[in-house]
Amino acid sequence: MVRIAVLVSGGGTNLQALIDAQHRGEIPGGEIAAVIASKPGVYALERAKQAGIPGYVVARADYDSPRAMTVALVEKLRALEIDLVVLAGFMTIITEEMVSAYPNAILNVHPALIPSFCGQGYYGLHVHEKALEYGVKVSGATVHFVSEECDGGPIVLQKAVYVEEGDTPEILQRRIMEQAEWVILPRAVALFCQGKLRVEGRTVHILK
Ligand code: GAR
Repeated sequence: MVRIAVLVSGGGTNLQALIDAQHRGEIPGGEIAAVIASKPGVYALERAKQAGIPGYVVARADYDSPRAMTVALVEKLRALEIDLVVLAGFMTIITEEMVSAYPNAILNVHPALIPSFCGQGYYGLHVHEKALEYGVKVSGATVHFVSEECDGGPIVLQKAVYVEEGDTPEILQRRIMEQAEWVILPRAVALFCQGKLRVEGRTVHILK
């Protein structure tokens, strides 16, 4: 069984999509073993509690630097014998210590079609503000492996979503969550847990 930790910072709707997929039996070979939040009191921890999943806090505020926090996170993940780390709306910078502890075993969901609207400063609602400012007609979501480059790791799955007349950042964010993020994140996690992802350079091959 692949032991999965989901790292969260906020509302946790992507975590909920993973919990629901697990309940429907759509993540064979995997088990959400822990939810770890970057601050106390976030609603994602309540979702974990309701699903009977152990919740933990490794608070950014308790550490001097992103590096110190990452080292503490890695220790926690190791203690919990985690095999796959899923960043689901995790808004804290993680450093290379995490990437080298979990090579090609950290998945992130990003609310745009990478390489558009990604990298430093592109997170949460800002991504959708930038997409609307630019005037794109199509956006979407990407699930990728995490590498040392911010939002630059090998792409696992992407799904496009149309921008519509009158969209606000909030409306576009919600549509991208419903139509793309909540669909491709559980799917990518399931593929990983079934051993169906093979990384070759920048390309992720999906095995039959
Ligand atoms: C999601 O839209 C996720 O893609 C985004 O934050 C939101 C979290 O929502 N992540 C990033 O922007 C990371 N760069 P959630 O807490 O309801 O899952």
